Amino acid sequence: MARIAVFNQKGGVGKTTTTLNLAGLLSRRGSDPLVIDLDPQGHLTSVCGISVPRADASLYGLYAHGVPLATLTCATRNGWKLVPSHIELSKVDSQFGKGPAVLGKLAAALDREPAERPVLMDACPMLGVLSLASVFAADGVIIPISTDYLAMKGAVQMERTLKALEQVLKRRVPRRYLLTRFDPRRRMSTDIERQLRERYGDEVCATRIAENVSLAESPASHQDVFEHAPASRGARHYAELMDELLACGFIRLAECEAKPVMRIAPQGARTALAMTQESQARRGVAASLKLVQSRHAGT
Ligand SMILES: Nc1ncnc2c1ncn2[C@@H]1O[C@H](COP(=O)(O)OP(=O)(O)OP(=O)(O)O)[C@@H](O)[C@H]1O
Ligand SMILES: [Mg+2]
Repeated sequence: MARIAVFNQKGGVGKTTTTLNLAGLLSRRGSDPLVIDLDPQGHLTSVCGISVPRADASLYGLYAHGVPLATLTCATRNGWKLVPSHIELSKVDSQFGKGPAVLGKLAAALDREPAERPVLMDACPMLGVLSLASVFAADGVIIPISTDYLAMKGAVQMERTLKALEQVLKRRVPRRYLLTRFDPRRRMSTDIERQLRERYGDEVCATRIAENVSLAESPASHQDVFEHAPASRGARHYAELMDELLACGFIRLAECEAKPVMRIAPQGARTALAMTQESQARRGVAASLKLVQSRHAGT
């Protein structure tokens, strides 16, 4: 389990902050994470100090021309590799549709990368092809929940989205709800924590990420919090989160990890089982997207 989507349809909850700092930790622990910025706003790309001159050199290149991820990858000064975003990504839904080929494109591209390489995907704050594609490509989803007004509404929306996708994936998507911007002195923070733990139990991370000025400031200097303020509470909490996710197996970095059938089949020599699984998944994706959208139209 090393492909993680960081996703919440609600905006400003700490998705990019979480991706940035987990990537920094993975890199410091000797992994070589591949980080994908799926948000057309390109916040993570900017934080890394990267500006892509042409849309085709960003993740958009995969959707427009099938450019392999390895070709789109940029080295960041933070020590890990990023597939950058570009504003043109906002047109993916309208230009390429919402069909199974588009929804499965990222997963298929990642299947051509080394299976043991950890992947972090920073999703955008909306329900569209790109965010759903991140769930399809992921082994697990981290759902940051900022302890502010409407936090529970965002969590419940995410629960519905994942439930609809699971009908296609035919499995429960492993997930962890992560409390962010937590301030124990604020009644709202503790109320949201209680409600979240009552509803989602062990799927809520024990670690809570505090409201912390170093986490807010580090992006301005293109740094993660470990470089910017290694002794800060924010640095300590993200390090504790990584320990927790590794200890419970939500993130597994072992080289000898058993890999799913579709990932171990060599290219051009897929097993009949893998091909059947793949075509079933593709047929179901379009139906799933319709289901998710119709459910959300009613919320
Ligand atoms: N624990 C924290 N303490 C203080 N500030 C934080 C914390 N986490 C995130 N922030 C700040 O909150 C803002 C939103 O965070 P971030 O960009 O990570 O959220 P996001 O979910 O990625 O947003 P979007 O939905 O727009 O992509 C940023 O200015 C960030 O620096
Ligand atoms: Mg973001």
